[in-house]
Amino acid sequence: MVDARNSIALALDLPLADGERLLKAVGAHVGVAKVGLSLFVEHGPRAVEVIRGAKADVFLDLKLHDIPNTVELAAARASALGVKYLTVHAGGGRQMLEAAVRGAESGAKAAAVAAPVVLAVTVLTSMNAADLKGIGVSDPAAVQVERLAKLAKEAGAGGLVCSVQEVAALRALLGRSMVLCTPGIRPAGAAAGDQARVDTPAAAVKLGADLLVVGRPIYEATDPAVAAKAIHDEVAGALG
Ligand code: C5P
Repeated sequence: MVDARNSIALALDLPLADGERLLKAVGAHVGVAKVGLSLFVEHGPRAVEVIRGAKADVFLDLKLHDIPNTVELAAARASALGVKYLTVHAGGGRQMLEAAVRGAESGAKAAAVAAPVVLAVTVLTSMNAADLKGIGVSDPAAVQVERLAKLAKEAGAGGLVCSVQEVAALRALLGRSMVLCTPGIRPAGAAAGDQARVDTPAAAVKLGADLLVVGRPIYEATDPAVAAKAIHDEVAGALG
């Protein structure tokens, strides 16, 4: 049976010391913490160490996108830190994705740690049809997402980052073969903030999401531990 704790990734979009305190407060309900670019640019591997010290798995959200050799080297260095999830941009193409998976495996092997699941970001949810057209994509976003999802799977990526709106179609397309990770999660009644498309934790799980990224609904709550427990219990209920 899936432990709901491992299906919730807390987005640490906070100063590191605050993130560390928060993780200690909610650790009973949340098993993964997401380190984004700003935290990693500021603190580097220490951000990863802090999370591991708090007994949570690390989701290193670096969204790598470069020539294959550079991505392979970066993925190897990242996975040697002992992270559970590592993100790359699917738009970097097949060779880059294959290089990311290779780097993730070789870096983990050299450091004698488990290799991370490489999660490919399909189309950024911040991009609309006009943005896609601006980079030469005239297909609707959903078509581009499916194209990149298939490419990422063929290249050996272990999962995808997608919006809740795309989960059901991707699950139907891919079966259970890939981890589907979704941000934009809001418990019923919570403020959407700048997220344009949101859904509840239970709905995301029922649509087929495996890993829910949740930030503000937990760290901006009056009592983050209470908020995290409620989300955990909702996810556990949906997982059955
Ligand atoms: O606070 P909130 O729950 O909206 O945080 C969502 C997290 O997921 C943030 O770290 C944000 O950068 C990230 N994210 C997102 N949408 C994407 C990809 C990542 O909100 N498409």
